[in-house]
Amino acid sequence: MVSMVSANYHQNQFEQVSSRLINKLLFDLMPLGADEIEQIERDDDLYAVALHARSPAFLTHLCDLYDVKPDLLEQILEYDLPGWAVSIKNRRMVARVISLRERVAERLAVWQRNRHAFLRVLEHFDLPRDGFFDVGCALGLAMLAGAEAGFRRVEGVELKSGFVKFADGLRDVACDSFGSSFDYHVGDFNDLDLGDRRFDLVMCVDVLEHTPDLDATIRKMLEICSQQAVVYIYQGNGRSLPMVQNEPHYRLPALTILPQALAVEVLQGFGKVDAPEDYIVRQWPTLDYLEGQASRDFELQFVGGDTNLRNGIKYPVAADREKLQRNCEKMIHEKLYPSLATPLREEVKRHVDRYFREVEADAHEMDTTTFERVYLQSCWNLAYVRG
Ligand SMILES: C[S@@+](CC[C@H](N)C(=O)[O-])C[C@H]1O[C@@H](n2cnc3c(N)ncnc32)[C@H](O)[C@@H]1O
Repeated sequence: MVSMVSANYHQNQFEQVSSRLINKLLFDLMPLGADEIEQIERDDDLYAVALHARSPAFLTHLCDLYDVKPDLLEQILEYDLPGWAVSIKNRRMVARVISLRERVAERLAVWQRNRHAFLRVLEHFDLPRDGFFDVGCALGLAMLAGAEAGFRRVEGVELKSGFVKFADGLRDVACDSFGSSFDYHVGDFNDLDLGDRRFDLVMCVDVLEHTPDLDATIRKMLEICSQQAVVYIYQGNGRSLPMVQNEPHYRLPALTILPQALAVEVLQGFGKVDAPEDYIVRQWPTLDYLEGQASRDFELQFVGGDTNLRNGIKYPVAADREKLQRNCEKMIHEKLYPSLATPLREEVKRHVDRYFREVEADAHEMDTTTFERVYLQSCWNLAYVRG
């Protein structure tokens, strides 16, 4: 009798241990339930364990969620896990990304959104599928999407050299699976010699705020277009209320409406950048500016109508303005001002107050569509199209 009790007790304990989520992940013990997947998605440590252990159920879930093929996901993990290991071993917190979970989830979400936008652009414009060029191509994932979509030649350029090894892996997939040529260049797009090669789709996603010479970048994108080409640009709008509420690189309010030196001072105060040269934003192009850059041969069009083409979410409308403005002001008062010393706060406040005065004035003066584009849409889906 005594030994039965003890056997049951041990059995129960064993059951508890073996059903604990961390053991399930480490030893792939049994299928994961939907609630368990949700739990992993919210928890930095479980997420790291799931990826490190290559939990089949969790990886399958990620492939389905982000529409990514297992071998591409594996390539991303082979790239991101060692990078993360170096960060934590050196106890070096990356200012803009807080955890491995955020890093991988963000990367997969970018892949999914870029691919989505890319395919919608191809539906929208009937383009020849000879050459595709991606400006600021980072890992080269959009180039792979170009090969998958049937472009015979795909090229891209990236300022930073750290992604080359990853892109090498993509080159094999692009050439073997889709038969496309795949040229990944490292350097500044503006200095790149493309000879007389021309492209039917030139793409530029989340790049223009970083490029060292904005005028030259846009000029060159138009120059490398074939006769029927379009340039697709996905661009954050630094003067929009959502972006002023939360700048996407540093996750602080108001940065996008401050002069660069002042933004750097604020970021240094928050310990988010060490020196001015670490600040990765050069400028936030305005809509007026982008419209003004269309040369004689091109006009600037909005693509996607009232939804953000890249994530499928409806843009806010004029009726949302007051609420967005209140949220934005609240965030600045709660998250920014209390951490700034008085002289810096006063200077920042002058810029913030001027911005809100301009919002108020333009809400009455601009036509609704223009006002929504200038102040409510956090990102634009744009295309330079031959007129
Ligand atoms: C925010 S990332 C976006 C990457 C990619 N387009 C995407 O959607 O995932 C911007 C990238 O553009 C690159 N970049 C910016 N200006 C560039 C230029 N003039 N030439 C080449 N790369 C550039 C940066 O180094 C950075 O990796």
